[in-house]
Amino acid sequence: MTPHIEAKKEDIASIVIMPGDPLRAKYIAENYLTDYMLVNDVRNMLAYTGYYKGKRVTVMASGMGNPSMGIYSYELFKFYDVDTIIRVGSCGAYTKNLNLYDLILVEESYSDSNYAFVQNGFKDKIITSSSELNEVIIQKSKELNINLNIGRIHCTDVFYKDNNPFKELYEKYNCLATEMETFALFSNAKYLNKKATCILTVSDNLETKEETTSEERQNAFTQMIELALESIL
Ligand code: HPA
Repeated sequence: MTPHIEAKKEDIASIVIMPGDPLRAKYIAENYLTDYMLVNDVRNMLAYTGYYKGKRVTVMASGMGNPSMGIYSYELFKFYDVDTIIRVGSCGAYTKNLNLYDLILVEESYSDSNYAFVQNGFKDKIITSSSELNEVIIQKSKELNINLNIGRIHCTDVFYKDNNPFKELYEKYNCLATEMETFALFSNAKYLNKKATCILTVSDNLETKEETTSEERQNAFTQMIELALESIL
């Protein structure tokens, strides 16, 4: 047990799929897993362990933002011997070249967050995901005919900004979209010699101002979940 996870060590699988929202973790367990059980509900940060097509997997929520993701992914890697975490989340696109519901595989997370520096002295603004995991996901996306954008995203600590410099982040730093958790996740994975990556669905577009409803998001979410789950097989 850790301060934030009450599961027994053996009740967490070596591979974890991590949405931000606890209810999405529940949705994934109920709709995709067999023989699953609830293994954590401390702070309602729900975690379920079960089987996807016979492969043991845990689905656990990360909460929102680097600090929350930082706590849960650190505890899973360090104290539960988790080897692989695949985050599945939503993002705001920084370019009209991306449509709502498009998927992005995150190769690099660019951030002003000081998470990695405070945690382990890492000074760069860019942290990469696992190329090994990415190769598998890219291969699966081809097999499943799922169109995948691949590249760098901006991981921000601030959702509400008065003057959002997203155009500059796209044009100068090649950030395709924004979300709030990958920097801490990739930092922990790198520091602890583990594997992590992230698949995102575009839920809104900062340039065109398009947004999805929560119901629409749920449907788009399906493709992303299937890609993540098929990739662990
Ligand atoms: N900003 C940060 N995170 C997000 C956004 C956004 O616009 N959309 C979805 N996740």
